Amino acid sequence: MRLKAIAATVLVAGLGVGIAIAAEDGTHDARAALMKKIGGATGAMAAMAKGEKPFDAEVVKASLTTISETAKVFPDQFKPGTEKGDKAASPKIWEDPADFKARAMKLSEDAGKILATPPTDVATLGAAMKTLGANCGGCHEKFRIKTD
Ligand code: HEC
Repeated sequence: MRLKAIAATVLVAGLGVGIAIAAEDGTHDARAALMKKIGGATGAMAAMAKGEKPFDAEVVKASLTTISETAKVFPDQFKPGTEKGDKAASPKIWEDPADFKARAMKLSEDAGKILATPPTDVATLGAAMKTLGANCGGCHEKFRIKTD
């Protein structure tokens, strides 16, 4: 019993920390955190495609999974009424949420499709990066305001 109680306390404390450090939904920080995940995964594959890092099929698969899963939940961060206070997210997102969501889903699906027959070498990885990269550029051009 005692042990169980201690375990429960530790679990609750752990959850509290998790909540405290996670950015509130619908804020610039929460949005940027998801995009940073996508950016990090893309960067890891780009380094291999450019020959800066050795090709690693497992890292490619993990990166594609991250992109697919993160892109799918990204639009949830742009609910109506959350447009204020984010200088990086264009007001166009709230004017045309259907297109915004469709672009996020397309990135998720493209990553998922590539994952179904994953790249096996630098050449096939390069081709996959082109497919993925078109999604990034297209959405950023329309819906992201450059702040740096
Ligand atoms: C559905 C539209 C969309 C797609 C697709 C998309 N992005 Fe973004 N991205 C955004 C928006 C909007 C922001 C600004 C978010 C904010 O800060 O509120 C952003 C911001 C970023 C940032 C800056 C994060 C920060 O530190 O502030 C990076 C890096 C990034 N995206 C990388 C990528 C990469 C790499 C891809 C493609 C694999 C991609 N994005 C695809 C919409 C998109």
